[in-house]
Amino acid sequence: MMICCLRTLQLLFGAQLVVSDWALTAPTIPNKFLYHHFLSGNGNKEIHLNGVELHVDSDKTPVFAVRGGNVTLPCRFWFEPELSSQREVRVKWSRLPAAAGGHDETDVLVAIGSRSRTFGEFRGRVQLRQDFPGDAALLMTDLQLNDTGHYRCEVVDGLEDRSTSIHLELQGVVFPYQHPRGRYHMSFLGARQVCEEQGSSLATFTQLFQSWKEGLNWCNAGWLADGTVQYPITQPREPCGGHGLAPGVRSYGRRHLHLHRYDVFCFSSSLQGRVYYFQPSHKMNLTEAQRMCQADGAEIAKVGQLYAAWKLTGLDHCDAGWLADGSVRYAITRPRKNCGPPEPGVRSFGFPPPQHKHGVYCYKAENE
Ligand SMILES: *[C@@H]1O[C@H](CO)[C@@H](O)[C@H](O)[C@H]1NC(C)=O
Ligand SMILES: *[C@@H]1O[C@H](CO)[C@@H](O)[C@H](O)[C@H]1NC(C)=O
Ligand SMILES: *[C@@H]1O[C@H](CO)[C@@H](O)[C@H](O)[C@H]1NC(C)=O
Repeated sequence: MMICCLRTLQLLFGAQLVVSDWALTAPTIPNKFLYHHFLSGNGNKEIHLNGVELHVDSDKTPVFAVRGGNVTLPCRFWFEPELSSQREVRVKWSRLPAAAGGHDETDVLVAIGSRSRTFGEFRGRVQLRQDFPGDAALLMTDLQLNDTGHYRCEVVDGLEDRSTSIHLELQGVVFPYQHPRGRYHMSFLGARQVCEEQGSSLATFTQLFQSWKEGLNWCNAGWLADGTVQYPITQPREPCGGHGLAPGVRSYGRRHLHLHRYDVFCFSSSLQGRVYYFQPSHKMNLTEAQRMCQADGAEIAKVGQLYAAWKLTGLDHCDAGWLADGSVRYAITRPRKNCGPPEPGVRSFGFPPPQHKHGVYCYKAENE
């Protein structure tokens, strides 16, 4: 029996496993795997050798992408020692919970060999790359703002199970948003809705932190996607916690999602279109402004679209214009005289009465 098994293994694995050495030097080791192989033996796919280890790896650095774009989340697996033949494993991608009040981990894709299944909002948008043996990279298309977060790549081979995770970040801009009725008016759910209405999503802590590093200095506390309330301070001052505190992103911690009210930090990413200032022969009240954009084959721009145009396409226009939420703003990338403060930014005049007359910012979706 022993002789026959060793020979068979040698035939299967060629020179890769020095089976005869093993047999000579350790003849008393229980030869469990040999029998196991013979019991389950259907060719070379199902052999579970002791001592063969599964490894899974990805990138340590986040992957950056833009809304509407495509991205590849790398993941590869291999066996040590190397196997002479490929083995069919199960690959599972899932998304780790990010949002407060969010569910558990969500399934993204499960694949065995060339068969795969995708789930929920990822259906039709993801597939395994499988460019080379051990390639388990995930291809994602048509990225949404809320696709940002941690993804786990898990590989299962029989009883072995290894995983790794990778962070997907969207490039974009964080902006503070205050309710038309004033400061600290939104519950968590209200805040999330307001961001969505303005063409954006609730910002994550990573996004707010990145903006703070780029100089965002804002004294009002706002909701983030994880249900915490924070604000970024680059220049400590009264009444923003005073001079005694170091610059940083300051946190009130987790607040009650329904009872507590704050402002919000929204996140907006690339535009699949164009924002422009529009002013026919005269200035307009809010309803006229909405109609004018429509008559121009566009729609009145959302606040998130104005911020994205400012940050990502360099929109620079010194005239205040209506936006979809009834606020009046303008965006400056090259600060100059009579265009507000000396830093680039989106300037806001708040929410004037709707009969006031201004220009308007329109948004035209186009694929240029
Ligand atoms: C993303 O991939 C899809 C399918 O492969 C392709 O049709 C689309 O043009 C790609 N989009 C971008 C922005 O590259
Ligand atoms: C993510 O955004 C898309 C499109 O805006 C939406 O349909 C989907 O429900 C959102 N998913 C979550 C988990 O919020
Ligand atoms: C804007 O002006 C039009 C007349 O041009 C008027 O019918 C409309 O009520 C006005 N809307 C507001 C919000 O003042």
